[in-house]
Amino acid sequence: MAADAHRVGSHCRITFDDFAFSMRTARGGSGIRSLRATLGFALWVIVAACGSRSDAVRDDTTRAGVDAGATDDTAAVATAGNAVRGLALLNAFRDSLPAHSGNALRCTSCHLDNGTRESALPWLGTLSRYPQYRARPGIDESIERRINECIARSLAGKMIAEDGQDMHVMVAYMATLNDRARPAPHVPVKLAGRVAEGEGAYAAQCARCHGANGEGVVAVAPAVWGAESYSVGAGMARQFTLATFLRHNMPYDRTDTLTDQEAADIAAYVLTQPRQDHPGKERDWPKGDAPEDVAYTTTAAETAGLPLPAPRPLLPRRVQPVP
Ligand code: HEC
Ligand code: HEC
Repeated sequence: MAADAHRVGSHCRITFDDFAFSMRTARGGSGIRSLRATLGFALWVIVAACGSRSDAVRDDTTRAGVDAGATDDTAAVATAGNAVRGLALLNAFRDSLPAHSGNALRCTSCHLDNGTRESALPWLGTLSRYPQYRARPGIDESIERRINECIARSLAGKMIAEDGQDMHVMVAYMATLNDRARPAPHVPVKLAGRVAEGEGAYAAQCARCHGANGEGVVAVAPAVWGAESYSVGAGMARQFTLATFLRHNMPYDRTDTLTDQEAADIAAYVLTQPRQDHPGKERDWPKGDAPEDVAYTTTAAETAGLPLPAPRPLLPRRVQPVP
């Protein structure tokens, strides 16, 4: 069931799932260096997530193999501070803040490799880009507000307090990436997608990890449509954003193997499938400058007489974006 893909009982176990997955994919061909990196990192996150929360419930079945090392390191890792806690939250958002999560995704489902993968919406140098004017809300946006946008849209969740500790620690993690050079963005894949071709390509290239019905596979990969996926208001629900992401990052174990046309076709197919609504989306791009691949009609685009997109199938929203 999709609902269970990343929904687990404790902090310790969610990171263990990641750990198990890292091992599988690393064995699948990413090479020994990345195996060591992912392994080391997974252990570090387990220690961080478990060690930094006094109420963490231990899952002795899954943690049996890592407990011994973790105990000694706990104090040292705990002092690494807010950035460590922030990263644990970014990797286990639903488990940490269930009332604020509306699907099975976590921040690093899209911001791959903890936000460091250059082709996957990196957080490298992000902090110094904010506040900045953004056309979607039509305002100068703070980093906190930008994060809340991803909570409300990509996680189909409920925004968190912008001056609270949870927000503070996520920003603290991003600060550790701020002096890293921001890579030049990839040329966006703007080809028109063909839904029928995309359906076949999805079955051949994606279903083994994300499920034949886009529902996700437990401990392998999360949903790409349906109730556990990102909302229609997410950047990833835009044709060009998704196609460009897929072109360079999926299939996860064979990146950069799709052609531009295949990526566009698969994106078109995925985006014809139902996903949660995003209340208030009609107020986006209030200046009438909505990009051509936006998935829904905005009031300003309607008023300006812009061409309007075909309606997408929508599922009821589980969690309201604004408290
Ligand atoms: C479904 C995929 C997805 C998930 C899950 C997701 N994001 Fe994003 N995020 C995006 C996309 C796509 C963009 C870029 C949107 C655009 O085109 O402007 C983005 C942009 C951002 C940015 C702005 C980066 C910059 O350099 O300007 C931040 C910060 C961010 N996300 C944080 C988060 C956090 C924190 C979470 C979890 C609470 C999260 N995201 C979850 C897809 C996702
Ligand atoms: C080998 C397994 C595998 C294959 C094959 C694969 N993916 Fe993924 N995919 C992943 C993993 C793992 C993630 C990151 C999940 C995480 O860390 O939470 C991911 C993330 C994603 C995301 C962002 C998160 C989300 O669920 O929306 C999208 C979109 C996506 N994949 C689409 C695709 C598409 C389309 C294909 C086929 C071209 C594909 N993937 C093939 C494993 C796979």
